[in-house]
Amino acid sequence: MGAQVMVEREQWQPHEIVGRRVTLRRHGPENLAAVSRWYRDPEVARLTRYQTRPMPREEVERFFQTRLLEPDSVAYAIHVRLTDRLIGLTTFSALDADNGSVLFHITLGERDVWGQGYGTEATSLMLAHAFERLGLHRVGLSVFSFNDRAIRSYEKAGFRIEGRLRDAIVRDGRYWDEIQMGALRPEWLQRFDDELTSRDAAAVSTER
Ligand SMILES: CC(C)(COP(=O)(O)OP(=O)(O)OC[C@H]1O[C@@H](n2cnc3c(N)ncnc32)[C@H](O)[C@@H]1OP(=O)(O)O)[C@@H](O)C(=O)NCCC(=O)NCCS
Repeated sequence: MGAQVMVEREQWQPHEIVGRRVTLRRHGPENLAAVSRWYRDPEVARLTRYQTRPMPREEVERFFQTRLLEPDSVAYAIHVRLTDRLIGLTTFSALDADNGSVLFHITLGERDVWGQGYGTEATSLMLAHAFERLGLHRVGLSVFSFNDRAIRSYEKAGFRIEGRLRDAIVRDGRYWDEIQMGALRPEWLQRFDDELTSRDAAAVSTER
């Protein structure tokens, strides 16, 4: 690979994206064992897959090689910043440069960290990456309607519900909708403006 290509790749695909409590880092081959374990977990399969059976080993290995390790893929391992513990993964797929859009995916494979804010922060970092570094206009996702934790987390990060595919999935003996969510660049920028304005207003009121 030429030096110029490596410099350009580092700009749009940095090795690390560091947040307040999580670090997103490019995967290395050493992550395969954890990723395989996560995808064998029936609860992870229930929340993320159309089929209830966990992903077969060969499929996990193929996914790992092509979607996570492949240099051109936009894929990151999620680590707890303080301890460097590997807790999950997040990816973009279906990058559509003509229309400036991409699809977002996230799985925290370590169940004991669910509900502690890590997923929302990793999602926010990926939105910032999409809008600020990649210059995209839209990030979309789909989520099963029974996955309340994920929906809440996506809303906190800035996604809005846009629609639903009714009865798209059978789980736990009944049909559920698949919810489509999206985040747009102008809304994302507006959120920052709003946050800055309210921070400024709070600062002024404490100065008085
Ligand atoms: C979805 C996921 C990324 C969210 O990350 P997380 O770190 O667990 O979520 P956070 O702690 O940042 O936020 C979760 C929010 O949902 C709320 N929540 C948790 N469980 C909930 C439930 N059963 N019902 C409703 N809200 C719930 C939390 O209270 C929190 O909201 P709050 O801050 O307003 O209190 C993570 O849980 C995960 O990967 N789960 C397994 C795989 C999965 O579902 N992936 C998504 C597939 S689309």
